[in-house]
Amino acid sequence: MHFIPVHFIVNLMLEEQKNTRNFVIISHVNHGKSTLADRFLELTKTILPEKMRPQYLNSMDLERRKGITIKMHPVRMNYTLNSKPYTLNLIDTPGHVDFSYEVSRALAAVEGAILLVDATKGIQAQTIHNLELAQKQGLIIIPAVNKIDMFTSYRTDGSGAGPQTKVKETKKELAGLLKVSQDEVFAISAKLGLNTKELLKAVIEKVPPPRFLLADKDKETFRALIFDSEYDPFKGVICYVRVFDGEIKNGEKIYLMAGKVEGKIKEIGYFGPKLLTKEKLVAGEIGYIATGIKEMGKVRVGDTITILNPKSEILNSKIEPLAGYKKPKPMVFASFYPQNPDDFDLLEEALNKLKLNDASLTFQPERKEGLGRGFLCGFLGSLHAEIIAERLKREFELTLVISTPSVVYRIIDKKDQQLFIYSASDWPDPSTVKEIKEPWVKLEIITPTEYLGQILKIFENLETVHIEKKYFGQNRLLLIYEIPLREIIVGFYDKLKSQSQGFASMNYEFLEYRSGDLVRIEVLIAGKKEEAFSRIVPKSRAFEEGRKIVKKIKEILPPQLFSVAIQAAISGKIIARETIRARGKDVIAPLYGGDYTRKRKLLEKQKKGKKRLKEIGQVQIPQSVFFKMFTQ
Ligand code: GTP
Repeated sequence: MHFIPVHFIVNLMLEEQKNTRNFVIISHVNHGKSTLADRFLELTKTILPEKMRPQYLNSMDLERRKGITIKMHPVRMNYTLNSKPYTLNLIDTPGHVDFSYEVSRALAAVEGAILLVDATKGIQAQTIHNLELAQKQGLIIIPAVNKIDMFTSYRTDGSGAGPQTKVKETKKELAGLLKVSQDEVFAISAKLGLNTKELLKAVIEKVPPPRFLLADKDKETFRALIFDSEYDPFKGVICYVRVFDGEIKNGEKIYLMAGKVEGKIKEIGYFGPKLLTKEKLVAGEIGYIATGIKEMGKVRVGDTITILNPKSEILNSKIEPLAGYKKPKPMVFASFYPQNPDDFDLLEEALNKLKLNDASLTFQPERKEGLGRGFLCGFLGSLHAEIIAERLKREFELTLVISTPSVVYRIIDKKDQQLFIYSASDWPDPSTVKEIKEPWVKLEIITPTEYLGQILKIFENLETVHIEKKYFGQNRLLLIYEIPLREIIVGFYDKLKSQSQGFASMNYEFLEYRSGDLVRIEVLIAGKKEEAFSRIVPKSRAFEEGRKIVKKIKEILPPQLFSVAIQAAISGKIIARETIRARGKDVIAPLYGGDYTRKRKLLEKQKKGKKRLKEIGQVQIPQSVFFKMFTQ
């Protein structure tokens, strides 16, 4: 047997760690992160050309269909530069404001970030927000302007007032934002692969190797941060981890510090981007640990995994947990009810599974008259709610009744008790209410100046406090408002996009609770109260809002066999009404010629059928109607 000196092993290990780079790509939504990741996968030959497809890492069906990243996606790549082999761990992140919790977790697992800005759009609200998150984490930032191929003159001399000025402007803006020289800002085309090799080289040269404590033989120092997880029926919860100290091997026993749960490792490995097995993970690495733990609720993102010390629990408790993550605070709530009451357990299991790789989702069971048993779910925003509803439908085949998303209201009643109201259907009787408080946020919008007029129109009817308007770069404005969160959770983002032809962007953060004069509008369809459509609106706009709601339902509810009244009411008083006319099914169409009695019989039968349906008020409301009510 050969004897290998310990210091040699340590040196070898250090060499491997020295040549590791962990980094993320961050940007505003759609600025090209996943496309840039594609180029890196090609350059490093992680994915062979014949297997390549656009936005390769967006593996979730829904992500591909919507063209947006919802989840972070880690991948390990091998690359040789100047004859030195490097291991590059890349995490592709989502760009939309509702998924920024995903971004913040990815940032804690890496040392560097490429900040991408689409040259045709310039710096956007999420560019700034994600940059701030990365800077807080102390990451090395490599700025790059993307989509330079959109400017035809790019590769020619680029002089004059040609479109290339836009690339230059964006470079200047970005350099200004980061306080670096313009020469440090890359100009790339992720789509065509222009300058992407140079960008990857910069990652190796500028991003430091992982911060870690020596991977020494003292096993008790092993610590890994869970940044994501998923469930496997055979291997239990699979944790995506960044190892900070020590090393771990397959088969070892582990302990989750916050979850206080033990596990025995079933498998260990890395992301290729598929899960690929490996015998051990050492400090500085990003990989996965199949924990064997079957209790989903015990494994939390942000927890620290240590090796279970067989000697004593005291030793375990001596290890300091790694700085986890701030628990995400759901801002928007909606009730999800299975359309088929028998699906309640299935819905619960599905939500538990989704929570494993979406730590910002919260839910608790509730029961409502007319709706049965369901869950009150908490989300970071309404796109988040929509995505979860769609995933429940697509991945678990659940058809749901979904209430209009709501913020959390604080109500002080006449006995000076404070109530938290998460859903319009729980709104108390107005005669018992002393004061209503609602969350306000600081809203930041960045827009090209030419859309200012259109954007101001959106605000005309909203309750806002205008704080600031300042020029940002050339021809662009930063608008800052204070606004009730309620005003922006339903449809606001889409309105902003359509009014600015997609050029304006927004970001918001919670400010405080303030008093509001609010009422609940209830919706009756064919005389039956539909709790899911109830919503809270300012008293001053109640009539107008009531009219809008019934009109919208009329537009999106499919025609029924009998005419249907859609009414809006406040405290039982009808304030608006629309009628959907009956869709006559042509029951006599198959009959030719003049068999009059037969025709009459069929028409009579149809009439009776309609009457029966009407009596039991059976209006079929498809899931898409609930979606449309809260997304448009
Ligand atoms: P989210 O993760 O949803 O925020 O999007 P993303 O930042 O990952 O953007 P993605 O890579 O999905 O690209 C968005 C769109 O921009 C796609 O249609 C891409 O084809 C296009 N795109 C990305 N890079 C380039 C580029 O360099 N040039 C051009 N012309 N289009 C690009």
